Amino acid sequence: MDIWHIRGGRRLEGVYRVQGSKNASLPILAASILGPMESELQNVPQLRDIDAALRILRHLGCEAEQRDNEVYIKSEGLCRSGIPHELMLEMRSSVIFMGALLARCGEARLSPPGGCQLGRRPIDLHLNALRQLGAQIEESGGEIICRAGRLRGAEIRLPFPSVGATENIMLAATAAEGETVIRGAAREPEIEALAAYLERAGCRVTGAGTDTVTIGELRRVSHVSHRIIADRIAAATVACAAAAAGGDVELRNVEPAHFSTVLHFLKQAGCVIMTENRSVRLRSDGRLCAVGPVRTEPYPGFPTDAQPVLMAALLRARGRSEITETIFENRFRQAPELRRLGADITVCRRRAVIRGVERLCGAELNATDLRGGAAMLIAGLCAEGETLVRDREHIRRGYERFDACLRVLGADIWMTES
Ligand code: UD1
Repeated sequence: MDIWHIRGGRRLEGVYRVQGSKNASLPILAASILGPMESELQNVPQLRDIDAALRILRHLGCEAEQRDNEVYIKSEGLCRSGIPHELMLEMRSSVIFMGALLARCGEARLSPPGGCQLGRRPIDLHLNALRQLGAQIEESGGEIICRAGRLRGAEIRLPFPSVGATENIMLAATAAEGETVIRGAAREPEIEALAAYLERAGCRVTGAGTDTVTIGELRRVSHVSHRIIADRIAAATVACAAAAAGGDVELRNVEPAHFSTVLHFLKQAGCVIMTENRSVRLRSDGRLCAVGPVRTEPYPGFPTDAQPVLMAALLRARGRSEITETIFENRFRQAPELRRLGADITVCRRRAVIRGVERLCGAELNATDLRGGAAMLIAGLCAEGETLVRDREHIRRGYERFDACLRVLGADIWMTES
């Protein structure tokens, strides 16, 4: 158990070098097994979820190691097509190994991925799409077995632009005969990042970043070197922290367009924001005002992953803000915890109303999930006195050395383990 201690009330000032993207790294780690090849990945964050993916790769028979922010994978020795239940449980995105294993081995055996923190997280879209590529799928005794003698390119229409399903289809399609067209594809930057890796691995991908993505067959390439994009959600989190606590922070090595919807609301709340090519500077006096209705949506809409951290930034904002969550059914789990600090949040189904309060007072909280946990740290940074967040290592799943990063910016925060 990690215990985060925060003494609130300090302004944040300085430079935050944005970490590499967790959600872009994970599908690329899965893609590294598509053929017998070596991948060298730069800017990979050091996180629990990345460790879990590397353990899966080693279990499958690959060499996989991380040194600082570089990951090296040699997938020639891959000799298994199944992922044990314990490894599946460690990380929900282990499900994207399904498409990659099917492509490489013609078979994938795994159990449904872990966790239901944010509500139901079915994988029906993934399975239906793989069936359309020619896979036979059995679900028995808690195991999902996908097999395909031959995968055939197909035109697949997704009824909802699921990020994971789009990634799984792209991975499986690299071994399909002929072209695969995904209509209604997710448009997130992480999809473009996966496409860029696949292109380097010798696969023609067009349209990534739009709702129609076309994937050709993978030609064999022996070595791929690829740099992971910046983590737009980590950037959004630090931006929300500086907005709420007050300060002057420069986010470096980031693509401002990837989280412009978050910056839009922070500007509306009263922050001064200047964006340059690869950096964002945010100034805030810590006295924000409420913002117009926020609605989470698939990219390029407002990201569901940034919803809890924006909520935390609005707790002391003058006026009433409203957030509607359309992506996950249970993503306001941070709200009851934030109320312990004195926040005024009312949740009714998928809508949360936040009425700004004058002051928040330190309290003991329990991190409910990764982004909810980050929201609690932000609230702690602007609460009076000491806040303690008990965390079953959720925050470490997504934020690299977050306590140290915030300390560099001047926050009074430290972590202990128990
Ligand atoms: C990815 C991100 C996650 C982010 C989410 C939405 C990774 C590792 N995770 O998750 O951080 O919050 O995108 O931006 O990149 N759904 C179905 N059936 C399916 C698949 C999804 O009903 O087969 C539903 C889900 O229950 C959810 C919605 O679609 O309500 C969004 O899910 P999806 O886009 O697939 O998210 P993930 O890929 O799991």
